[in-house]
Amino acid sequence: MKHTITLIPGDGIGPEVSSAVVRIIEAAGVEVQWETHYAGAQALEKFGTTLPEDLLESIKRNRVALKGPITTPVGKGFTSVNVGLRKTLDLYANLRPVRALPNVPSRYPELDLVVVRENTEDLYSGIEHVVVPGVVESIKIITEKASTRVSKFAFEYARREARKKVTAIHKANIMKLSDGLFLECFYNVSKAYPEITADDKIVDNACMQLVMRPEQFDIMLLENLYGDIVSDLCAGLIGGLGLVPGANIGEQGAVFEAVHGSAPDIAGQGIANPTALLQSGILMLRYLDERDAAERVERAMLKVFEEGRVRTRDIGGEAHTMEFAEAVIAAME
Ligand code: NAI
Repeated sequence: MKHTITLIPGDGIGPEVSSAVVRIIEAAGVEVQWETHYAGAQALEKFGTTLPEDLLESIKRNRVALKGPITTPVGKGFTSVNVGLRKTLDLYANLRPVRALPNVPSRYPELDLVVVRENTEDLYSGIEHVVVPGVVESIKIITEKASTRVSKFAFEYARREARKKVTAIHKANIMKLSDGLFLECFYNVSKAYPEITADDKIVDNACMQLVMRPEQFDIMLLENLYGDIVSDLCAGLIGGLGLVPGANIGEQGAVFEAVHGSAPDIAGQGIANPTALLQSGILMLRYLDERDAAERVERAMLKVFEEGRVRTRDIGGEAHTMEFAEAVIAAME
């Protein structure tokens, strides 16, 4: 079976980690034709737009993309390409499995939880305006439609992966209407999944609980902004951003990406940890029904972590990006 996959190498460390992952996927024997496209500043320079039509067409056609991180200017300049992609392709669910890896310094070596984040609305609606000089209004949108479908996604995922509990995280004590609606939709959907426990927690308490007793969580379901923040917190619980995968999934396709950014502080040095994007690649292989290849790559990656000899700097080792990739390839059965 041959797959055509859209590849967005991205900015900063993006090209370094994506070439490592492409090499590993190919070494696993998966036949892929990669369609490489640029987005963000690189695309703006070449094509006058941050999200070229060719790129969007390629993802729509292939229904699957692997994406490196893309730099977003802070406080000025173009709007986030990541948010743009999610909205344009209606990739409404963001999935981030957070699982501790062997030999990675972390406070919670047994942790295994999943963050599901709503991807299309909330304060990311991008509706901001100056009311009068010195006063800015930023609008939070929560809809029944988006809250219901992302809740269904979380419960379906729980059922498929034999997970036991979904916890909705909210601030409905303060935002009674918006977060109240999100919570109401969550509990409505939960009725169709009686075998899965549904509960909820207020977001500030949830953050404290995550730091003190994260093992109480199984799947966490959050609106867009809380999900953005809490999923990075969860990455920190198991050793950092270089490790955790992410997928943006909708009815028409999926974009698999690392949760970290373009890491300008280490870009170009060949020292970035490709594990996050590799784990996203493993999720992608499963999505493509390449289950054997996904398992072989995952086993090889875990073996490299278990042996603990080849580790990148962010987790206390010395290895370069490609050395890690080669070690994973060598460990493949
Ligand atoms: P960042 O994730 O790029 O970096 C935060 C820290 O983590 C840095 O010290 C960096 O060196 C380290 N780090 C991140 N990934 C790593 C890896 N694979 N291996 C080793 N160390 C790693 O976050 P930051 O600095 O806030 O953002 C930089 C740029 O990335 C910004 O323009 C931001 O908008 C963009 N960004 C893009 C994302 C995406 O495309 N999905 C997600 C997050 C940020």
